[in-house]
Amino acid sequence: MILETPRLILRPFAADDLDRMGELMADKDFMRFSMGPMKREQVQGFLDKVIGWNRDGLPSQFAMIVRSSGTLAGYCGFFHHEVDGKMEIEIGYRLQRDFWNRGLATEAARAVRDHGVRDLKLEYLISLIHPDNQASRRVAEKNGMTLERETTFRGFPTFVFAITRKQWMKLRGEAE
Ligand SMILES: CC(C)(COP(=O)(O)OP(=O)(O)OC[C@H]1O[C@@H](n2cnc3c(N)ncnc32)[C@H](O)[C@@H]1OP(=O)(O)O)[C@@H](O)C(=O)NCCC(=O)NCCS
Repeated sequence: MILETPRLILRPFAADDLDRMGELMADKDFMRFSMGPMKREQVQGFLDKVIGWNRDGLPSQFAMIVRSSGTLAGYCGFFHHEVDGKMEIEIGYRLQRDFWNRGLATEAARAVRDHGVRDLKLEYLISLIHPDNQASRRVAEKNGMTLERETTFRGFPTFVFAITRKQWMKLRGEAE
């Protein structure tokens, strides 16, 4: 499945994205508010994971391609996490610093959210965000999510932003 927005193409990851993703994921700004920059083997692990989800028909991540230049600038899509003992589907995103603050993550996150609810019939989507991550919080808000609770995730204080199918329908003005 490929998602298209005015400025982005969101396509499934492929094995030959390793070099470019290795470059991005070695960068400390790209990896802000995470466990930190990744080595090539870890990036390989990331790609194996998301390509495996696609193969198994599970919600997965998309490579964010900036239409104007064809640059693979980051990722936006779904992760599977256990949060407070329950499996949840998260919308997660990271973008190369050169592209920040142009609304691109929001554009991608909205397309991913709509795809999740409309096509994949997902009932409840979250975003896990460090309380200090102002930019990511704004993206979640602009994505129609609301702050649901605070928890601890992988040892860090974490805000759980969320949207339900019902809230999405209201937002989109769609009938049930
Ligand atoms: C989070 C991230 C994906 C946002 O991407 P982006 O394309 O710049 O996001 P957008 O342009 O769509 O929106 C960013 C919003 O945050 C705001 N913002 C950015 N930095 C901010 C700051 N330090 N304080 C307050 N607001 C800030 C912007 O003004 C904008 O809001 P606005 O539209 O109301 O003006 C990008 O910063 C990134 O990759 N960061 C590192 C990785 C990361 O933190 N990922 C999320 C993990 S939960």
